[in-house]
Amino acid sequence: MIVAGLDIGSLTIKAVIFEENKIKGFTIVPTGADANKLTKDCLELTLKRTGNDFKDLQAIVATGYGRISVPFTDKSITEITCHAIGANWLNPDTRTVIDIGGQDSKVISVDQDGRVVDFVMNDKCAAGTGRFLEVMANALGVKTEELGNESLKSKKKITISSMCTVFAESEVISLIAEGCAKEDIIRGLHEAISNRICSMACRLRLENTIALTGGVAKNIGMVHALKKRLKAKVYVPEEPQIVGALGAAIAASRILYSE
Ligand SMILES: Nc1ncnc2c1ncn2[C@@H]1O[C@H](COP(=O)(O)OP(=O)(O)OP(=O)(O)O)[C@@H](O)[C@H]1O
Ligand SMILES: [Mg+2]
Repeated sequence: MIVAGLDIGSLTIKAVIFEENKIKGFTIVPTGADANKLTKDCLELTLKRTGNDFKDLQAIVATGYGRISVPFTDKSITEITCHAIGANWLNPDTRTVIDIGGQDSKVISVDQDGRVVDFVMNDKCAAGTGRFLEVMANALGVKTEELGNESLKSKKKITISSMCTVFAESEVISLIAEGCAKEDIIRGLHEAISNRICSMACRLRLENTIALTGGVAKNIGMVHALKKRLKAKVYVPEEPQIVGALGAAIAASRILYSE
């Protein structure tokens, strides 16, 4: 049985091919104006990599912001449900999922079967998201992928007081002008985001194990800041960015089982 899960996010599109309870292949591409075509291309590239054809797929489930705009799927499911299913499959001890994506951040409580018990999310502003970090990386002249390792070099604590993207960018520019080290500023940014996520998470009963999902979990500095603040058992999947698409693929296989 071969199925696919697609996660059409605000910044990236993810495709996962799932066969006999195993991840067979995945692809991550940037989101663009024609989400429908880009999603199809992303899926076809993944099928090529796994040596399969579109006709081999027995079910396709889509999730993410753009899930409605893709017509060739069997079902669309919310990202919250998909991240819960994906994280539970990867680590059944998961009871809390923190998904930090490009445009929003979510904290999800899940039960032992990966069902959503409760959730909180911030989708009102860029603070505490990947986009916020991208703007700051740009202001610092550092690649987003390098933020994590840079921050680990930090020896001095700097507190970033603004969380609004526009004000935080000005604050970062002022700190650079004052001669502060980039690594200290980046660590300060990670700690500020971590504080924001944790105060949102406090509205739920945070239980071990906490899985970190979404592209921002690839940032080792963010993971360190969250671990320090959460003081809990934290699990970071090998490829945290595809957890939503993985959950969608697992949901697709369940459609077939229930038929
Ligand atoms: N290697 C990396 N190092 C650091 N950050 C990364 C890396 N790869 C991706 N990111 C971050 O991940 C973010 C995108 O995450 P993701 O793909 O989960 O978002 P999305 O699903 O498109 O967004 P949303 O769920 O909000 O719609 C980017 O903003 C980027 O900052
Ligand atoms: Mg996402």
